[in-house]
Amino acid sequence: MSKINHIAIIMDGNGRWAESRCRPRIWGHVRGAAQISDVVEAADHFGIKALTLFAFSTENWCRPKEEVSSLFTLLRKYIERERQKIIRNKIRFRVIGDIFGLPEKTRDLILDLEEKTRLSTGLKLNFAFDYGGRSEIINSVNKFIHQSPGQLISESDLYENLYLVDSGDVDLLIRTGGDCRISNFLLWQMAYAELYFTKTKWPEFSTEEFRKIYYEVSLRQRRFGGIDTPLDLVSNLVEAKAHKASMQHKVE
Ligand code: IPE
Ligand code: IPE
Ligand code: MG
Repeated sequence: MSKINHIAIIMDGNGRWAESRCRPRIWGHVRGAAQISDVVEAADHFGIKALTLFAFSTENWCRPKEEVSSLFTLLRKYIERERQKIIRNKIRFRVIGDIFGLPEKTRDLILDLEEKTRLSTGLKLNFAFDYGGRSEIINSVNKFIHQSPGQLISESDLYENLYLVDSGDVDLLIRTGGDCRISNFLLWQMAYAELYFTKTKWPEFSTEEFRKIYYEVSLRQRRFGGIDTPLDLVSNLVEAKAHKASMQHKVE
């Protein structure tokens, strides 16, 4: 069994789910938002360390105004509704992305819940909102240049300046809705993620399906460039570096 510490989900298919029922797309988002709580609870029961949910991308700004503002409202309502439960279950809540484009009230709610759960030791729940993987990487590089002018950036420097410093690499990415792409989500963290695409649209994604995917992917053999099952990506990279150094030493 390979260890899954961090699951990322692209919650896609709300609009098509509603349209196929002759309903407005926004209704699909409302039904989709209602699914989140059960999925978070299931992830908490799996005992994983982090769950990152893609709720609004930097590219989603090009949707009609009413749809964008309904997504903002749903984020606010989710936080208002789940706030106590998140605190009670010791979930560490974070929003990654540019929250400064959000209405002040929502921003304040986010900052308050982030602060209240800062020291929570349970599941790390990250909402990616107005998030783009490329912006995250550019941001990280710029932060590094600012702190260490004239220096060359390393992989660990880049990682340490990302929005998500303590959730680690993504082990499993699930995308609902039937499309097989990653749409600018967690580009750096997903370098060695197992990918799982399901045709189920997000409003119909059940905890049973989530559990099935989790167990199925836990059985996959992850090699991280090696030839047998290593413990994790980090230990494999350490081994790879040591091996490279010893080979170079022999050549010299
Ligand atoms: C995902 O559902 C939610 C967001 C992108 C905000 P979509 O709205 O993309 O639904 P489809 O893909 O059009 O069905
Ligand atoms: C990705 O879904 C973003 C979210 C789920 C928030 P999209 O529906 O925006 O992705 P594309 O544009 O079809 O790739
Ligand atoms: Mg979509």
